[in-house]
Amino acid sequence: MAKVTIQDLSKVFPVAGAKPIEAVKNLSITVEDKELLVLVGPSGCGKTTTLRLIAGLEEATRGTISLDGEVLNKIPPQDRDVAMVFQSHALYPQLTVFENMAVGLKLRKVPAKEIDQAVQEAAELLDLSPCLKMRPEQLSGGQRQRVALGRAIVRRPRLFLLDEPLSSLDAPLRVQMRAEIVQLQRNLGVTMILVTHDQTDAMSVGQRIAVMRAGELQQVARPREIYRTPVNRFVAGFIGFPAMQFLPGIIKQAREKLWFEMKTSEGKTLSLPIEQARSASFQKRVNQETILGLRPEHLSIVRSPETAPATLAAVVEWCEYLGAETILHVKIGEWPARLRLLNSQAVAFTPGDRLEIAVDMAEASYFDPENGSALV
Ligand SMILES: Nc1ncnc2c1ncn2[C@@H]1O[C@H](COP(=O)(O)OP(=O)(O)O)[C@@H](O)[C@H]1O
Ligand SMILES: [Mg+2]
Repeated sequence: MAKVTIQDLSKVFPVAGAKPIEAVKNLSITVEDKELLVLVGPSGCGKTTTLRLIAGLEEATRGTISLDGEVLNKIPPQDRDVAMVFQSHALYPQLTVFENMAVGLKLRKVPAKEIDQAVQEAAELLDLSPCLKMRPEQLSGGQRQRVALGRAIVRRPRLFLLDEPLSSLDAPLRVQMRAEIVQLQRNLGVTMILVTHDQTDAMSVGQRIAVMRAGELQQVARPREIYRTPVNRFVAGFIGFPAMQFLPGIIKQAREKLWFEMKTSEGKTLSLPIEQARSASFQKRVNQETILGLRPEHLSIVRSPETAPATLAAVVEWCEYLGAETILHVKIGEWPARLRLLNSQAVAFTPGDRLEIAVDMAEASYFDPENGSALV
């Protein structure tokens, strides 16, 4: 068993002659036994610090970290049953793969025979058996990454902490490594917290995703839920690529319906009908400024505007042909927007072309412009 419970965890770093940095602020989160949780957020949001706190490499300023109910705060790192794979997985260049993987066990004075068995087993699992006598310089980037994982595996920890294990890999290797990590976590049957700044890695690997911003947890949920019902504008914009686009407007009532109205700088009014299902909860926002959030795949090109229920006039800016799909960049009034089109829909576009765009209003998100929280 390895269930991690983090309660009100904070870490403040003093800074000489300046304001202290609160790298982690009141973080509360539970990682279930055998779960793979991904911690994601922009650079500097406190991900590494969180892992270092769990590993015992930093002392918490406030709050507790427990593993299966046992508070870890006062337990030294080597006694925590937690293994951390660092972002710069510095392998010892003069040691072989075997020796690199064995190093932690040797320090603990584990008998040679046990070390040998543990390393052989880990190498088998990681497809490194043929490489055990090689030195790091003879390995590919992906193999080196696996050696770093192997070093953690041989210790048989209850909890794995992986800090940006994918970030230094090039695209094809990264895709392969994502799959390997998911499989490894399943095969080992361990609890894992993986850190990344990349939302695609997070969506791809995480059973649940925890999004952090400036030391604070924003949302924890399964990938689908994070994508479909982000709790605020930050999460909505961070998860998903091309990102959700945000349009400022006002909710109006007219003809027994609610409408989302935008006024362009040229004085035109653009309006979209708000879904019936939202009318009760949005009644209290009539005449209030609101942000509409639309994902690129929820916009499409209208062939016959008369019959489409929700459309906007747009002007083509440029077109990104990506093979299976095309990202069409347009302007709606003065606001830039992107459409994700399957190539069957993507006829030739020329900058300056005028289009009618259909909006799938059932998929729209709305946000409070003051505090960014999602309106439901
Ligand atoms: N030892 C330290 N001393 C002072 N500030 C630190 C220290 N470690 C991290 N920080 C600061 O804490 C914040 C979070 O850092 P970090 O956890 O490394 O972020 P991330 O891993 O998400 O990029 C950053 O502002 C960073 O500069
Ligand atoms: Mg980091």
